[in-house]
Amino acid sequence: QTGMFTYDPGFTSTASCESEITYIDGDEGVLLYRGYPIEQLAEQGDFLETCYLLLYGELPTPIQRRDFNYRITRHTMVHEQMARFFQGFRRDAHPMAVMVASVGALSAFYHDSTDISDQRQRMVASMRLIAKIPTLAAMAYKYSIGQPFVYPKNELDYTSNFLRMCYAVPCEEYKINPIFARALDRIFILHADHEQNASTSTVRLAGSSGANPFACIAAGVACLWGPAHGGANEAALKMLTEIGTVENIPKYVARAKDKNDPFRLMGFGHRVYKNYDPRAKIMQQTCHEVLNELGMKDDPLLQVAIELERIALSDEYFIEKKLYPNIDFYSGITLKAMGFPISMFTVLFAVARTSGWIAQWKEMIEDPGQKIGRPRQLYIGAARRDYVPLDKR
Ligand code: SDX
Repeated sequence: QTGMFTYDPGFTSTASCESEITYIDGDEGVLLYRGYPIEQLAEQGDFLETCYLLLYGELPTPIQRRDFNYRITRHTMVHEQMARFFQGFRRDAHPMAVMVASVGALSAFYHDSTDISDQRQRMVASMRLIAKIPTLAAMAYKYSIGQPFVYPKNELDYTSNFLRMCYAVPCEEYKINPIFARALDRIFILHADHEQNASTSTVRLAGSSGANPFACIAAGVACLWGPAHGGANEAALKMLTEIGTVENIPKYVARAKDKNDPFRLMGFGHRVYKNYDPRAKIMQQTCHEVLNELGMKDDPLLQVAIELERIALSDEYFIEKKLYPNIDFYSGITLKAMGFPISMFTVLFAVARTSGWIAQWKEMIEDPGQKIGRPRQLYIGAARRDYVPLDKR
């Protein structure tokens, strides 16, 4: 027993690690960051506070919050040569390809924070990653549309700074839309951490070898890109666009149920949640807020999404397999309405998840008992046999 939780020995025997950071109850649809319900953090907190909570385990006091803010804003710029680094990419490169490369390239610029045995260097690397990821993400977006990079403006809050780096242009003043800034900040909170998902497990495994944190986070970015994981928000919007109208929904639901058809409802189902993903509820509310702000409450994509959810949740296939909307189901509609191109959706997920990746990496590195990860396998290949020379085959 620890606190309110009792351990199910059967469960812990399959657990890949112990962690104090995030708790998920998949059957009840519960998500806690350091014990705080995601609903309360999303409603009352902000993303930078969530970064502090995930990293240090407690909500910051006003002084701790001010100091953390200061430390992050000291690292929002990237080395000027990084800007030239981007010139090597094709303009039409997927921004996630640019992110995998540029996050890993941070190892080539910040040698003074790659020694993981040094507690101070670990802390500086953590601040640098949380601070620079939005800058790199905005640079990836600007580069893809042929616009000049916009430097961070540190008097802005974290999320407003990111929006400005994405959308400001030198020829006119950029006005932050407070509804967008609040919505995106909440979306970052929802995506910040999620226990041992595929990309976090990738970061932990890479980190267990002693690789520097920039390289480990680049590995996490690469894993997140997959459509079964962080790439699902991009895939879900493409699916809703392809469905196009409410009348087409039954055809796609039938395909999703057909075992011989590889099509799956993107944004539905989850390895852990066998109930409604609590983040999806907040995501849906946020989607309505943004679309109402834009006078788009009758947006056809939103109508398709709402009707698709209604049909799926009343269909015995989805009920029996406990398939519910996950965080990716409504995020794409929201981000598209805010002006982000579909290719940036997973980049935004990576911006948010960097805080969780770093917190999980830090927890693993600072565990005195941690060893290099070395998953084993069940060998099902050929039995031992002798070599056959080429002329005898
Ligand atoms: C994220 O791990 C995390 O925490 C990830 C994440 C995070 O914050 O890090 O939450 C972010 O990645 C959310 C998931 C985003 N992915 C998608 O929305 C892609 C669509 N979803 C599916 O690909 C699927 O649901 C997975 C990959 C998420 C889970 O797949 P599983 O492990 O096969 O799910 P399952 O074992 O619960 O499936 C049960 C059954 C299976 O059928 P049977 O083999 O039992 O016959 O349901 C089927 C699945 O084939 N099924 C679906 C389905 N998802 C599962 N059928 C139709 N449509 C779907 N979306």
